[in-house]
Amino acid sequence: MSRVRKAVIPAAGFGTRFLPATKAQPKEMLPIIDTPTIQYVVQEAVDSGIDDILIISGKGKRAIEDHFDRNFELEASLQNSKQKENSLNEVRRIADMANIHFIRQKEVNGLGDAIYQARMHTGSEPFVVMLGDTIIDSVIPVTQQLIDVYEQYQQTVIAVETVPKEKVSRYGIVGGTKLSESIMRVMELVEKPDIDKAPSNLAIAGRYILTPEIYKAIEKTPKGVNNEIQLTDAMRILSTRENIYSHTIEGVRYDIGNKLDYLKTIVEFALKRKEFSVQFREFLEEIIRTNQIVNN
Ligand code: UTP
Repeated sequence: MSRVRKAVIPAAGFGTRFLPATKAQPKEMLPIIDTPTIQYVVQEAVDSGIDDILIISGKGKRAIEDHFDRNFELEASLQNSKQKENSLNEVRRIADMANIHFIRQKEVNGLGDAIYQARMHTGSEPFVVMLGDTIIDSVIPVTQQLIDVYEQYQQTVIAVETVPKEKVSRYGIVGGTKLSESIMRVMELVEKPDIDKAPSNLAIAGRYILTPEIYKAIEKTPKGVNNEIQLTDAMRILSTRENIYSHTIEGVRYDIGNKLDYLKTIVEFALKRKEFSVQFREFLEEIIRTNQIVNN
């Protein structure tokens, strides 16, 4: 049985929904308080037993490479200060989290094309794809949840979550036959369907376990929504040849590529941070209270 040892993190997109912040910096580096989004994604991979990570990078994405590299000047400066020992340890830990490799997607041609860049690196092994702009907060890391399902079926597994019916046209949607409370055999996959054409309200949630078969499917995939090669379309082609399963995640997904979700993520994560959760809660309550007075 082949084990999932590698992760691919696509992070080459333009992040146009977040302009102008993403004009000269990657959206995957947008911080949730003090930690860049992509560091949470790498941490989830590491917590799921994966130590080989390929980041699909592109123009304007150098900050991601620098973030996961050593910074000797910074370390030397932190070393001189007793109070900054924690920062020093954290800065060193980040550079040592996993074996992180980079490859560039030369043209931003869509998620399917981004994944295709990983073919030499993943070779004949199954691998997990983790979107670099999506954090999933859960007790058991979602990548670990998917690996557990993969070990049962040895075929493609897609993480999904239930979304309100009126929001289906924002996501890749799957439909199929339920096998258990959380697992479904996927029969239909549609990228951003109209509400009346969606096969269900189960949305693809930014994590997948794929096998090398996906590369042949991507080669056959024409450009789709937004004139990009969509991974959802490639998986639909794959589904005619082999079984695909979905797993409804146990966890909360935060898509930071969308401004409102980004704001919500920061607020929720801040409320969980011991160092200031009490003051922050008081601050929020105060704003809401005074706003209500103004509105009255
Ligand atoms: P998104 O579609 O959310 O990212 O892709 P985007 O295209 O950068 O965002 P907008 O719509 O313009 O605001 C999800 C993830 O896939 C990566 C992105 O970097 C993001 O982390 N991606 C997307 C690629 O690596 N290459 C692509 O061609 C497209």
